[in-house]
Amino acid sequence: MTTTQIGALDAHTLTEDVIRSFDDTPDARTRSILTALVRHLHAFVHDIEPTLAEWETAIEFLTAVGQKCDSVRQEFVLLSDVLGVSMLVETINDQHAPGATDSTVLGPFHMTESPTRQLGDTIDEFGSPDELLVTGTVRNTGGSPLPHATVDVWQCNEEGFYDVQQPDVQPAGNGRGLFTTDEQGRFWFRTVTPSHYPIPTDGPVGTLLEATRRHPYRPAHIHFIARADQHRPLTTHIFVPDSPYLDSDAVFAVKRSLIGEFGTGDAEQAAQFGVKIGSPVAAVDLVLAPPRSGSADVH
Ligand code: BEZ
Ligand code: FE
Repeated sequence: MTTTQIGALDAHTLTEDVIRSFDDTPDARTRSILTALVRHLHAFVHDIEPTLAEWETAIEFLTAVGQKCDSVRQEFVLLSDVLGVSMLVETINDQHAPGATDSTVLGPFHMTESPTRQLGDTIDEFGSPDELLVTGTVRNTGGSPLPHATVDVWQCNEEGFYDVQQPDVQPAGNGRGLFTTDEQGRFWFRTVTPSHYPIPTDGPVGTLLEATRRHPYRPAHIHFIARADQHRPLTTHIFVPDSPYLDSDAVFAVKRSLIGEFGTGDAEQAAQFGVKIGSPVAAVDLVLAPPRSGSADVH
């Protein structure tokens, strides 16, 4: 590693010295990521010219973000979400999956296993009479159906709470289901229409939102992870079309293609799927890309 005499050190040679310190990194990708990180981080510091007190505040903020994390709470992911970084990473990776359904953020509530359910089951353990029917297919980018694909679904209830947020009110697994597509690549289930809801604001990310006068709300949505052999797993949502906050999602995760088209069930659907005539119906087509060559996506 090259060392620099303090007397000769100025802000710009400092950046180059730090980058040179990675010269012996055996892994080329690690070296290039660290090089880019130092270049951008130093450029950011040049840009804002923080006082020592401001830098201390920044370190305290990041410390608080770390201290808020535990096995079920990931405040760093939440920070990445509200700064749009999670969505940027999703979108960059979607470019490698032409023709596939757009992906969107995983979010923090996929923290328990969804109960295995049969096609046609409800994921609403309360048996609400106001049912939403979800029918869908899982296909490849050539349009062929993918039988035996798994579709993991999770959502909040009509009041905007996930089961894990209300362990004394909702049974574990409420609003969740793990389905397997039939021979035609189809799946269908019954549920309730989820509500919009606020992301967790009781940590430093909430403080950041408040300090910047940003609201914490996400538009109503249902989460999906679809998996099929020899295909890339897909993590996505469908958004409820008339939900508030579609144009100002706190985590920037709305893509126009993911806003659902909710219809109204006719007599035939009512008979076929066991819902009332006139119930809302959401049709969801999930298209999975082939794995990236040489990647670990295949399973
Ligand atoms: C969610 O949709 O569950 C979610 C996503 C990002 C941050 C918080 C919640
Ligand atoms: Fe969610």
